[in-house]
Amino acid sequence: MSKHEIAVIPGDGIGNEVVPAALDVLNTVAEVHGGISFEFTNFPWNCDYYLKHGIMMPEDGLNTLQSFEAIFLGAVGDPAKVADHISLWGLLIKIRREFEQVINIRPAKFINGIVSPLTNPNDFDLIVVRENSEGEYSEVGGRIHKGEDQIAIQNAIFTHKGTERAIRYAFELAAKRKGHVTSATKSNGIFHSMPFWDEVFKEVSLDYPEARTASYHIDALAAFFVTKPHIFDVIVASNLFGDILTDIGAAIMGSIGIAPAANINLNGKYPSMFEPVHGSAPDICGKGIANPVGQIWTAKMMLDHLGQQELGQKVLTAMEETISNGIKTPDIGGNASTKEMTEDICRRLKK
Ligand code: NAD
Ligand code: IPM
Ligand code: MN
Repeated sequence: MSKHEIAVIPGDGIGNEVVPAALDVLNTVAEVHGGISFEFTNFPWNCDYYLKHGIMMPEDGLNTLQSFEAIFLGAVGDPAKVADHISLWGLLIKIRREFEQVINIRPAKFINGIVSPLTNPNDFDLIVVRENSEGEYSEVGGRIHKGEDQIAIQNAIFTHKGTERAIRYAFELAAKRKGHVTSATKSNGIFHSMPFWDEVFKEVSLDYPEARTASYHIDALAAFFVTKPHIFDVIVASNLFGDILTDIGAAIMGSIGIAPAANINLNGKYPSMFEPVHGSAPDICGKGIANPVGQIWTAKMMLDHLGQQELGQKVLTAMEETISNGIKTPDIGGNASTKEMTEDICRRLKK
Protein backbone atom coordinates (compact mmCIF):
# COMPACT_ATOMS: atom_id res chain seq x y z
CA MET A 1 0.00 0.00 0.00
CA SER A 2 1.52 3.34 -0.95
CA LYS A 3 0.24 6.21 1.10
CA HIS A 4 0.57 9.78 -0.15
CA GLU A 5 0.41 12.76 2.19
CA ILE A 6 -0.81 15.77 0.28
CA ALA A 7 -1.14 19.39 1.41
CA VAL A 8 -4.30 20.93 -0.04
CA ILE A 9 -4.73 24.69 -0.50
CA PRO A 10 -8.07 25.42 -2.21
CA GLY A 11 -7.26 29.16 -2.12
CA ASP A 12 -9.78 31.68 -3.44
CA GLY A 13 -12.93 31.75 -5.55
CA ILE A 14 -13.66 28.65 -7.59
CA GLY A 15 -10.60 26.97 -6.06
CA ASN A 16 -13.06 26.06 -3.29
CA GLU A 17 -15.36 24.42 -5.83
CA VAL A 18 -12.96 22.60 -8.12
CA VAL A 19 -10.47 21.37 -5.49
CA PRO A 20 -13.11 19.35 -3.56
CA ALA A 21 -14.25 17.97 -6.94
CA ALA A 22 -10.73 16.79 -7.77
CA LEU A 23 -10.31 15.32 -4.27
CA ASP A 24 -13.51 13.30 -4.85
CA VAL A 25 -11.89 11.93 -7.99
CA LEU A 26 -8.64 11.08 -6.17
CA ASN A 27 -10.57 9.42 -3.33
CA THR A 28 -12.52 7.40 -5.90
CA VAL A 29 -9.25 6.29 -7.50
CA ALA A 30 -7.99 5.14 -4.09
CA GLU A 31 -11.26 3.38 -3.30
CA VAL A 32 -11.42 1.52 -6.58
CA HIS A 33 -7.78 0.60 -6.97
CA GLY A 34 -6.43 -0.86 -3.76
CA GLY A 35 -2.75 -0.32 -3.09
CA ILE A 36 -2.92 3.46 -2.87
CA SER A 37 -4.27 5.84 -0.25
CA PHE A 38 -4.22 9.58 0.28
CA GLU A 39 -4.08 11.66 3.39
CA PHE A 40 -5.20 15.18 2.52
CA THR A 41 -4.45 18.02 4.94
CA ASN A 42 -6.36 21.19 4.22
CA PHE A 43 -4.83 24.66 4.63
CA PRO A 44 -7.32 27.55 4.49
CA TRP A 45 -4.79 30.10 3.25
CA ASN A 46 -6.37 32.66 0.98
CA CYS A 47 -7.57 36.29 0.84
CA ASP A 48 -10.07 35.74 3.70
CA TYR A 49 -7.22 34.42 5.81
CA TYR A 50 -5.30 37.59 4.93
CA LEU A 51 -8.21 39.81 6.02
CA LYS A 52 -8.16 38.08 9.44
CA HIS A 53 -4.43 37.69 9.97
CA GLY A 54 -2.76 40.34 7.78
CA ILE A 55 -0.69 37.64 6.07
CA MET A 56 -1.51 35.07 3.35
CA MET A 57 -0.08 32.12 5.26
CA PRO A 58 1.37 31.69 8.75
CA GLU A 59 5.04 32.63 9.30
CA ASP A 60 5.93 28.94 9.54
CA GLY A 61 3.65 28.00 6.61
CA LEU A 62 6.47 26.92 4.33
CA ASN A 63 7.93 24.75 7.11
CA THR A 64 4.55 23.12 7.51
CA LEU A 65 4.25 22.42 3.77
CA GLN A 66 7.80 21.10 3.57
CA SER A 67 6.90 17.72 5.08
CA PHE A 68 4.29 16.86 2.43
CA GLU A 69 4.94 14.81 -0.68
CA ALA A 70 3.10 17.29 -2.89
CA ILE A 71 0.94 20.41 -2.71
CA PHE A 72 -2.44 20.54 -4.45
CA LEU A 73 -3.59 24.11 -5.00
CA GLY A 74 -6.71 25.67 -6.51
CA ALA A 75 -6.17 29.34 -7.28
CA VAL A 76 -5.03 32.42 -5.44
CA GLY A 77 -6.45 35.92 -5.86
CA ASP A 78 -9.57 37.82 -4.96
CA PRO A 79 -8.87 41.36 -6.08
CA ALA A 80 -12.12 42.68 -4.58
CA LYS A 81 -10.75 41.81 -1.12
CA VAL A 82 -6.96 41.95 -1.38
CA ALA A 83 -4.73 43.48 -4.05
CA ASP A 84 -3.29 40.78 -6.31
CA HIS A 85 0.33 41.76 -5.73
CA ILE A 86 -0.16 41.04 -2.00
CA SER A 87 -2.01 37.74 -2.34
CA LEU A 88 0.15 36.37 -5.14
CA TRP A 89 3.59 37.33 -3.80
CA GLY A 90 2.41 36.21 -0.34
CA LEU A 91 1.30 32.71 -1.27
CA LEU A 92 1.47 31.42 -4.84
CA ILE A 93 4.74 32.97 -5.99
CA LYS A 94 6.25 32.53 -2.55
CA ILE A 95 5.73 28.76 -2.67
CA ARG A 96 6.96 28.50 -6.27
CA ARG A 97 10.12 30.46 -5.41
CA GLU A 98 10.98 29.18 -1.94
CA PHE A 99 10.35 25.58 -2.95
CA GLU A 100 12.47 26.02 -6.07
CA GLN A 101 9.67 24.90 -8.37
CA VAL A 102 11.70 26.03 -11.32
CA ILE A 103 9.76 24.31 -14.10
CA ASN A 104 6.09 24.70 -14.92
CA ILE A 105 4.74 21.99 -17.22
CA ARG A 106 1.57 22.89 -19.07
CA PRO A 107 0.10 20.50 -21.65
CA ALA A 108 -2.58 21.31 -24.20
CA LYS A 109 -4.17 18.87 -26.62
CA PHE A 110 -7.27 18.44 -28.70
CA ILE A 111 -10.01 16.91 -26.57
CA ASN A 112 -12.74 15.08 -28.40
CA GLY A 113 -16.16 16.52 -27.52
CA ILE A 114 -15.04 20.07 -26.82
CA VAL A 115 -15.60 22.59 -29.56
CA SER A 116 -12.30 24.31 -30.17
CA PRO A 117 -12.51 27.88 -31.51
CA LEU A 118 -10.13 26.78 -34.26
CA THR A 119 -11.77 26.11 -37.61
CA ASN A 120 -9.38 23.22 -38.19
CA PRO A 121 -8.23 21.97 -34.79
CA ASN A 122 -6.51 18.86 -36.20
CA ASP A 123 -5.01 16.72 -33.48
CA PHE A 124 -2.64 18.95 -31.61
CA ASP A 125 -0.80 17.63 -28.57
CA LEU A 126 1.79 19.97 -27.11
CA ILE A 127 3.49 20.76 -23.83
CA VAL A 128 4.80 24.15 -22.81
CA VAL A 129 7.79 24.03 -20.47
CA ARG A 130 7.65 27.36 -18.72
CA GLU A 131 10.68 28.68 -16.82
CA ASN A 132 9.06 29.26 -13.44
CA SER A 133 11.49 31.07 -11.17
CA GLU A 134 13.00 34.12 -12.84
CA GLY A 135 12.87 36.00 -16.15
CA GLU A 136 10.31 38.77 -16.33
CA TYR A 137 8.90 37.78 -12.89
CA SER A 138 11.74 39.47 -11.04
CA GLU A 139 11.72 41.19 -7.69
CA VAL A 140 14.23 43.77 -8.89
CA GLY A 141 12.70 47.14 -9.56
CA GLY A 142 9.88 49.20 -8.19
CA ARG A 143 8.28 52.58 -8.60
CA ILE A 144 9.99 55.91 -8.37
CA HIS A 145 8.88 59.55 -8.46
CA LYS A 146 5.32 60.72 -8.12
CA GLY A 147 2.52 62.05 -10.27
CA GLU A 148 3.20 62.46 -13.94
CA ASP A 149 6.92 61.73 -13.43
CA GLN A 150 6.15 58.35 -11.94
CA ILE A 151 8.15 55.44 -13.34
CA ALA A 152 7.69 51.69 -12.90
CA ILE A 153 10.79 49.56 -13.42
CA GLN A 154 11.19 45.79 -13.45
CA ASN A 155 14.45 44.20 -14.44
CA ALA A 156 14.07 40.85 -16.12
CA ILE A 157 16.64 38.39 -14.80
CA PHE A 158 17.85 35.52 -16.93
CA THR A 159 20.57 33.41 -15.33
CA HIS A 160 22.55 30.91 -17.38
CA LYS A 161 21.69 28.27 -14.80
CA GLY A 162 17.93 28.94 -14.85
CA THR A 163 17.72 29.25 -18.62
CA GLU A 164 19.77 26.12 -19.24
CA ARG A 165 17.73 24.15 -16.71
CA ALA A 166 14.43 24.94 -18.43
CA ILE A 167 15.78 24.28 -21.91
CA ARG A 168 17.43 21.01 -20.89
CA TYR A 169 14.17 19.89 -19.26
CA ALA A 170 12.38 20.56 -22.55
CA PHE A 171 14.89 18.48 -24.54
CA GLU A 172 14.65 15.60 -22.06
CA LEU A 173 10.86 15.71 -22.25
CA ALA A 174 10.86 15.86 -26.06
CA ALA A 175 13.12 12.79 -26.16
CA LYS A 176 10.24 10.85 -24.56
CA ARG A 177 7.74 12.33 -27.06
CA LYS A 178 8.12 13.32 -30.70
CA GLY A 179 11.64 14.68 -30.28
CA HIS A 180 10.86 18.24 -31.35
CA VAL A 181 11.63 21.35 -29.30
CA THR A 182 10.49 24.86 -30.15
CA SER A 183 12.12 27.84 -28.48
CA ALA A 184 9.95 30.89 -27.75
CA THR A 185 12.21 33.85 -28.34
CA LYS A 186 12.22 37.52 -29.27
CA SER A 187 15.77 37.85 -30.41
CA ASN A 188 15.37 40.64 -32.90
CA GLY A 189 17.68 42.80 -30.84
CA ILE A 190 15.15 44.48 -28.59
CA PHE A 191 15.57 42.49 -25.37
CA HIS A 192 19.10 41.73 -24.13
CA SER A 193 17.77 38.55 -22.58
CA MET A 194 16.63 36.89 -25.77
CA PRO A 195 19.86 36.63 -27.81
CA PHE A 196 21.24 35.17 -24.56
CA TRP A 197 18.31 32.72 -24.40
CA ASP A 198 19.06 31.73 -28.03
CA GLU A 199 22.72 31.10 -27.25
CA VAL A 200 21.84 28.81 -24.36
CA PHE A 201 19.25 27.04 -26.52
CA LYS A 202 21.91 26.41 -29.18
CA GLU A 203 24.42 25.25 -26.56
CA VAL A 204 22.01 22.76 -24.96
CA SER A 205 20.75 21.51 -28.33
CA LEU A 206 24.28 20.27 -29.13
CA ASP A 207 23.81 17.68 -26.37
CA TYR A 208 20.72 16.36 -28.16
CA PRO A 209 21.81 15.80 -31.78
CA GLU A 210 18.81 13.57 -32.46
CA ALA A 211 16.31 16.32 -31.51
CA ARG A 212 14.69 18.50 -34.14
CA THR A 213 14.38 22.16 -33.20
CA ALA A 214 12.66 25.37 -34.21
CA SER A 215 12.76 28.88 -32.89
CA TYR A 216 10.10 31.55 -33.37
CA HIS A 217 9.62 35.05 -32.10
CA ILE A 218 6.97 34.95 -29.41
CA ASP A 219 4.56 37.15 -31.35
CA ALA A 220 4.65 34.88 -34.41
CA LEU A 221 4.60 31.82 -32.16
CA ALA A 222 1.45 33.05 -30.42
CA ALA A 223 -0.19 33.31 -33.84
CA PHE A 224 0.99 29.79 -34.79
CA PHE A 225 -0.67 28.46 -31.64
CA VAL A 226 -3.92 29.56 -33.26
CA THR A 227 -3.21 28.86 -36.93
CA LYS A 228 -1.22 25.58 -36.76
CA PRO A 229 -0.84 24.17 -33.24
CA HIS A 230 -0.30 20.67 -34.65
CA ILE A 231 3.28 21.61 -35.64
CA PHE A 232 4.36 21.73 -31.98
CA ASP A 233 5.59 19.06 -29.60
CA VAL A 234 7.49 20.67 -26.69
CA ILE A 235 7.80 24.44 -26.47
CA VAL A 236 10.22 26.03 -24.04
CA ALA A 237 9.48 29.57 -22.94
CA SER A 238 10.47 32.19 -20.39
CA ASN A 239 8.23 32.83 -17.42
CA LEU A 240 6.00 35.51 -18.97
CA PHE A 241 6.02 34.14 -22.51
CA GLY A 242 5.07 30.73 -21.05
CA ASP A 243 2.31 32.26 -18.97
CA ILE A 244 0.70 33.88 -21.97
CA LEU A 245 1.22 30.96 -24.35
CA THR A 246 -0.48 28.58 -21.93
CA ASP A 247 -3.66 30.63 -21.74
CA ILE A 248 -3.68 30.44 -25.54
CA GLY A 249 -3.08 26.68 -25.23
CA ALA A 250 -6.11 26.49 -22.94
CA ALA A 251 -8.19 28.64 -25.27
CA ILE A 252 -7.52 26.49 -28.33
CA MET A 253 -8.55 23.40 -26.36
CA GLY A 254 -11.85 25.19 -25.85
CA SER A 255 -11.72 26.65 -22.34
CA ILE A 256 -9.30 28.00 -19.80
CA GLY A 257 -11.23 25.87 -17.31
CA ILE A 258 -9.66 22.62 -18.53
CA ALA A 259 -5.93 23.36 -18.70
CA PRO A 260 -3.70 21.64 -16.11
CA ALA A 261 -0.26 22.52 -14.76
CA ALA A 262 2.53 21.26 -12.52
CA ASN A 263 5.17 23.34 -10.74
CA ILE A 264 8.11 21.00 -10.46
CA ASN A 265 10.93 21.01 -7.94
CA LEU A 266 13.84 19.26 -9.62
CA ASN A 267 16.36 18.86 -6.80
CA GLY A 268 14.11 16.84 -4.51
CA LYS A 269 14.59 19.27 -1.62
CA TYR A 270 11.00 20.53 -1.60
CA PRO A 271 7.56 19.32 -2.66
CA SER A 272 6.23 20.11 -6.13
CA MET A 273 2.93 21.93 -6.47
CA PHE A 274 -0.02 21.08 -8.72
CA GLU A 275 -2.43 23.85 -9.74
CA PRO A 276 -4.40 24.45 -12.93
CA VAL A 277 -3.66 27.24 -15.41
CA HIS A 278 -6.85 29.15 -14.61
CA GLY A 279 -7.42 31.54 -11.73
CA SER A 280 -10.12 32.03 -9.12
CA ALA A 281 -12.74 33.17 -11.69
CA PRO A 282 -14.60 35.65 -9.45
CA ASP A 283 -17.17 36.17 -12.23
CA ILE A 284 -18.60 32.63 -11.89
CA CYS A 285 -17.69 31.84 -8.29
CA GLY A 286 -20.58 30.49 -6.16
CA LYS A 287 -22.70 29.46 -9.14
CA GLY A 288 -21.68 25.79 -9.08
CA ILE A 289 -20.75 25.85 -12.77
CA ALA A 290 -16.95 26.01 -12.65
CA ASN A 291 -15.38 23.43 -14.91
CA PRO A 292 -13.61 20.90 -12.64
CA VAL A 293 -11.56 19.42 -15.48
CA GLY A 294 -8.54 21.74 -15.16
CA GLN A 295 -8.21 20.73 -11.51
CA ILE A 296 -8.93 17.04 -12.18
CA TRP A 297 -6.42 16.87 -15.04
CA THR A 298 -3.98 18.59 -12.66
CA ALA A 299 -4.67 15.77 -10.18
CA LYS A 300 -3.76 13.36 -12.98
CA MET A 301 -0.42 15.17 -13.34
CA MET A 302 0.08 14.80 -9.59
CA LEU A 303 -0.64 11.06 -9.82
CA ASP A 304 2.00 10.78 -12.58
CA HIS A 305 4.45 12.65 -10.38
CA LEU A 306 3.73 10.28 -7.47
CA GLY A 307 4.64 7.35 -9.71
CA GLN A 308 1.01 6.33 -10.32
CA GLN A 309 0.98 6.79 -14.09
CA GLU A 310 -1.46 3.97 -14.70
CA LEU A 311 -4.02 5.53 -12.37
CA GLY A 312 -3.33 8.93 -13.91
CA GLN A 313 -4.21 7.52 -17.32
CA LYS A 314 -7.47 6.11 -15.92
CA VAL A 315 -8.45 9.57 -14.67
CA LEU A 316 -7.71 11.11 -18.06
CA THR A 317 -9.72 8.44 -19.87
CA ALA A 318 -12.72 8.84 -17.53
CA MET A 319 -12.55 12.61 -17.94
CA GLU A 320 -12.44 12.36 -21.74
CA GLU A 321 -15.36 9.89 -21.76
CA THR A 322 -17.49 12.21 -19.63
CA ILE A 323 -16.80 15.07 -22.03
CA SER A 324 -17.42 13.08 -25.19
CA ASN A 325 -20.73 11.88 -23.69
CA GLY A 326 -21.82 15.49 -23.43
CA ILE A 327 -21.65 15.91 -19.63
CA LYS A 328 -20.13 19.37 -19.77
CA THR A 329 -20.15 22.63 -17.85
CA PRO A 330 -21.36 25.78 -19.67
CA ASP A 331 -17.86 27.05 -20.57
CA ILE A 332 -17.52 24.06 -22.94
CA GLY A 333 -21.03 24.24 -24.29
CA GLY A 334 -22.99 22.04 -21.87
CA ASN A 335 -25.37 22.62 -19.00
CA ALA A 336 -23.94 20.31 -16.34
CA SER A 337 -22.89 21.62 -12.95
CA THR A 338 -19.45 21.13 -11.40
CA LYS A 339 -20.98 18.41 -9.24
CA GLU A 340 -22.68 16.55 -12.10
CA MET A 341 -19.54 16.52 -14.19
CA THR A 342 -17.43 15.31 -11.25
CA GLU A 343 -19.93 12.59 -10.32
CA ASP A 344 -19.95 11.31 -13.89
CA ILE A 345 -16.15 11.09 -13.93
CA CYS A 346 -16.19 9.21 -10.59
CA ARG A 347 -18.89 6.86 -11.85
CA ARG A 348 -16.79 5.97 -14.88
CA LEU A 349 -13.76 5.33 -12.66
CA LYS A 350 -15.83 2.84 -10.66
CA LYS A 351 -16.86 0.86 -13.76
P1 NAD B 1 -9.31 33.49 -14.43
O1 NAD B 1 -8.59 32.33 -15.02
O2 NAD B 1 -9.70 33.37 -13.02
O3 NAD B 1 -10.64 33.76 -15.30
C1 NAD B 1 -10.62 34.10 -16.68
C2 NAD B 1 -11.95 33.68 -17.35
O4 NAD B 1 -11.99 32.25 -17.43
C3 NAD B 1 -13.17 34.09 -16.52
O5 NAD B 1 -14.21 34.47 -17.39
C4 NAD B 1 -13.54 32.80 -15.78
O6 NAD B 1 -14.90 32.68 -15.46
C5 NAD B 1 -13.11 31.72 -16.76
N1 NAD B 1 -12.71 30.50 -16.04
C6 NAD B 1 -11.56 30.30 -15.35
N2 NAD B 1 -11.55 29.09 -14.80
C7 NAD B 1 -12.71 28.49 -15.14
C8 NAD B 1 -13.28 27.21 -14.88
N3 NAD B 1 -12.65 26.28 -14.15
N4 NAD B 1 -14.50 26.94 -15.41
C9 NAD B 1 -15.15 27.84 -16.16
N5 NAD B 1 -14.66 29.06 -16.45
C10 NAD B 1 -13.45 29.39 -15.93
O7 NAD B 1 -8.40 34.77 -14.68
P2 NAD B 1 -8.54 36.27 -14.15
O8 NAD B 1 -9.97 36.69 -14.18
O9 NAD B 1 -7.54 37.03 -14.91
O10 NAD B 1 -8.06 36.22 -12.64
C11 NAD B 1 -8.91 36.12 -11.50
C12 NAD B 1 -8.05 36.03 -10.25
O11 NAD B 1 -7.30 34.80 -10.25
C13 NAD B 1 -7.00 37.14 -10.12
O12 NAD B 1 -6.84 37.45 -8.78
C14 NAD B 1 -5.74 36.50 -10.68
O13 NAD B 1 -4.56 37.11 -10.25
C15 NAD B 1 -5.90 35.10 -10.14
N6 NAD B 1 -5.17 34.04 -10.86
C16 NAD B 1 -4.62 33.06 -10.09
C17 NAD B 1 -4.00 31.98 -10.69
C18 NAD B 1 -3.39 30.92 -9.82
O14 NAD B 1 -3.53 30.96 -8.62
N7 NAD B 1 -2.75 29.93 -10.38
C19 NAD B 1 -3.95 31.90 -12.09
C20 NAD B 1 -4.53 32.92 -12.85
C21 NAD B 1 -5.15 33.99 -12.24
C1 IPM C 1 -0.54 31.46 -13.68
C2 IPM C 1 -0.98 32.80 -13.15
C3 IPM C 1 0.11 33.41 -12.27
C4 IPM C 1 1.35 33.63 -13.10
C5 IPM C 1 -0.33 34.72 -11.60
C6 IPM C 1 -1.60 34.54 -10.84
C7 IPM C 1 0.77 35.29 -10.76
O1 IPM C 1 -1.33 33.64 -14.19
O2 IPM C 1 -0.20 30.57 -12.87
O3 IPM C 1 -0.55 31.28 -14.89
O4 IPM C 1 1.45 34.65 -13.81
O5 IPM C 1 2.24 32.79 -13.03
MN1 MN D 1 -1.39 32.66 -16.13
